[in-house]
Amino acid sequence: MNNKPIGIIDSGIGGLSIASVLIKKLPKESIVYIADSKNCPYGQKSAEEIYKLTKKMVDYLLSKNIKLLLIACNTITVTSIEKLRKYYPNLPVVGIVPVVKTAINNSKSGKIGIFSTKVTAKSKYQKKLINEFAKENTVISIGSDNLVEKIENPDFVSIDKILEKELKPFIEKKVDVLALGCSHFPLIYSKIKKKLPNVLILDSAGAVVRQVERILNNNKILSNSNKARYNFYTTGGLNAIGFHVDKLTKSGKIEKISLL
Ligand code: DGL
Repeated sequence: MNNKPIGIIDSGIGGLSIASVLIKKLPKESIVYIADSKNCPYGQKSAEEIYKLTKKMVDYLLSKNIKLLLIACNTITVTSIEKLRKYYPNLPVVGIVPVVKTAINNSKSGKIGIFSTKVTAKSKYQKKLINEFAKENTVISIGSDNLVEKIENPDFVSIDKILEKELKPFIEKKVDVLALGCSHFPLIYSKIKKKLPNVLILDSAGAVVRQVERILNNNKILSNSNKARYNFYTTGGLNAIGFHVDKLTKSGKIEKISLL
């Protein structure tokens, strides 16, 4: 047993879509969440810069005594998970990637889509996943240009316009399952669904939370507390994170920090 918190990181508020599922499935676990909203979006930055920014978040979380790191960001996972595991050998690290295998298992036509950031779409990590599970299938992978930025600082008119353009190839190629490869995108699930009414849309939250549970279990560090605590930190503005913390996690203390 171990009642220390789980540390969760994302480039911004997107990872709250994962945190909310974790809170529901593992209600005894405490969490400390950091949104690097000041530097969001990460999806067009270099791998080196993403790693440098990520390390600052992890060091901050270590000062909060976390027992496990959950990377609730596909872009950080595909660029940095291996380096983070090497640099912090004693810290269990769980990452998030699009659920390619589940998408294929649920597809009738064998045509699936993956919608992510540009960095994730181009990454070796994602190519490996496709080769492993969907080599024989048609996979349409689209890296969005600036959707994350518009979700982070909500601009719903721009979001609709971007979706209209960027979801078109999925419609044209008639994909029947779409895997969301960016944790910001579940926050606009209903907008995506409206444009793709006949497509099954999958996110990675359930799979990732099951993986967290497995690792806590294997390491015998599950919590037995009845007083889970939720602390949210942001390097950016408090409005968007406040709105989503209220909506998705119902409670929690929110604070603005600077990671120098
Ligand atoms: N939520 C991040 C992801 O899952 C967004 C990355 C970004 O900031 O561009 O990829």
